[in-house]
Amino acid sequence: MYRSHNCGELNASYINKEVTLAGWVQKSRDKGFIVWVDLRDRYGITQLVFDEERTSKDMLEQAQNLGREFVIQVKGTVIERASKNPNLSTGDIEILVSELIILNESLLPPFTIEDKTDGGEELRMKYRYLDIRRNPVKNNLIFRHKVTQEVRNYLSKEGFIEVETPYLIKSTPEGARDFVVPSRMNAGQFYALPQSPQTFKQLLMVGGMDKYFQIVKCFRDEDLRADRQPEFTQIDCEMAFIDQEDILNAFEGLTRHLLKEVNGVDVEKFPRMLYDDAMRLYGNDKPDIRFGMEFGELNEVSQHKDFKVFNDAELVVGIAVPGGNTYTRKEIDQLIDWVKRPQIGALGMIYVRCNDDGTYKSSVDKFYDEIDLGKWAEVTGAKTGDLICVLSGNKNKVRAQLSALRMELAERLGLRNPKKFAPLWVMDFPLLEWDEDTGRYHAMHHPFTSPKPGQLELLKTNPGEVKANAYDLVLNGNEIGGGSIRIHDKETQSLMFDYLGFTPEEAKAQFGFLMDAFQYGAPPHGGLAFGLDRLVAILGGQETIRDFIAFPKNNAGRDVMIDAPAPIDAAQLTELSLKLNLKP
Ligand code: AMO
Repeated sequence: MYRSHNCGELNASYINKEVTLAGWVQKSRDKGFIVWVDLRDRYGITQLVFDEERTSKDMLEQAQNLGREFVIQVKGTVIERASKNPNLSTGDIEILVSELIILNESLLPPFTIEDKTDGGEELRMKYRYLDIRRNPVKNNLIFRHKVTQEVRNYLSKEGFIEVETPYLIKSTPEGARDFVVPSRMNAGQFYALPQSPQTFKQLLMVGGMDKYFQIVKCFRDEDLRADRQPEFTQIDCEMAFIDQEDILNAFEGLTRHLLKEVNGVDVEKFPRMLYDDAMRLYGNDKPDIRFGMEFGELNEVSQHKDFKVFNDAELVVGIAVPGGNTYTRKEIDQLIDWVKRPQIGALGMIYVRCNDDGTYKSSVDKFYDEIDLGKWAEVTGAKTGDLICVLSGNKNKVRAQLSALRMELAERLGLRNPKKFAPLWVMDFPLLEWDEDTGRYHAMHHPFTSPKPGQLELLKTNPGEVKANAYDLVLNGNEIGGGSIRIHDKETQSLMFDYLGFTPEEAKAQFGFLMDAFQYGAPPHGGLAFGLDRLVAILGGQETIRDFIAFPKNNAGRDVMIDAPAPIDAAQLTELSLKLNLKP
């Protein structure tokens, strides 16, 4: 038996008991005649004591030579501590050691295994197994387990069946690039790793599974950010014989269950917002509604004077920054520089101070009088003491820029409280999205999404206007899930591929299996997938998903611990019928 107890469970009720513990040396304090060692495992820390009077000379010496992260086993007696530590569950006791066994030595770790460490991110990723010993990372993984377990409990109780779908498949178009795997047995042919199990879950509906879910890895070769990893996990779900309302209720139920069980938070019925309104009011399809600062469109009240910048703009739009009139001129200039950074790309920013005496002072006083500025305040909802920030230009660009400014200011003003949860359904996304690079429309969600009833015809004349039966679940300004009601008949699906620019041959080659299946009694169906990593991070009050993944990749998509990706040797290439053609 390696241990009778763990390092987090002993307290005063165990005094005088003989125990065996095993774990890692967190740190030791050596006073010469007495040595204290903090012994750590997943459950906590227990203090060990060795002293001249009660410990053999050899063992005392051995204790003095224990290095950080040595793995040891001790036998001893639980005794009351002279100076208690109220911050530790085991803080009332210590173990007077009678037997010490070193199970394994350790090199000096490259960073301190403490809650606040001196290790940089790359170093910690390289030695992730040491990082996982630290409480913040360990606790995040335990937190993730709890969320995952609650997901399984809830969905199983609701009648969902977890079914595994294959990883070696053919490309599914979710909008990113595929990771591909060469096939040795089929020379010159490749599997693609799934960007999602989308087509398989639809086939499971044709197969009569009725309610499916899967906690599943997905793979997307796309540019990485704090909320994106090349391999990530979805809670993928699909249901048959449902309409949009059923889906929203089912997954609102799951989200509410998680908020309650994991965070102890009760949330009212989730509000719903149309995509068009989200874009108009927040410049963003995943608005953070924990705070206001809604956009006010100012075209009507700003394009009647001689200010050419505004008159030439497709959109003039502003937000009221609560209490922003206290900003100094220098602070406002810094804000202007901030929106002009290439990442944001605004050409400039106009501002209006809403003075305490009800007057206004703007950076465009030359063009606009008090009456004009009063109207701007009305439209943006600005009150005395606020600052109105106004951007102008191309509609889509300006919305994105002001949205970034809104989030930045909210962050600075402490309005993005991670303990507050504001879920939101964003509904009726456009079916198609114009892609500048390829010069054609792409499915905004994926090509299996059904258009809103009666809108199929519009595809011919006004494709950009067609709305989809698609919805996203947004939590605190992050897209944590998305889904749609699917097309379930062959004719509509073929039409859809046609509109998306697939020839009938291409559609058949890529998705013939799905369209075949639709001819054998496909039920109406729809579903949704949550991004588990994002969901867990946000429930955990953070936004960086790497911190909730045991072995994440860095921003260049590399696993710096195992050093992947890596070249393969010539023999392996030959076996796979591959030849590299790398340009120097
Ligand atoms: P979608 O592409 O919207 O939908 O993905 C669902 C959710 O997965 C998360 N997500 C990611 N998380 C981390 N890293 C990534 N690279 C990444 N990409 C996406 C997001 C997103 O909301 N098959 C459809 C679902 C459906 O229609 O049912 C799909 O995959 O939180």
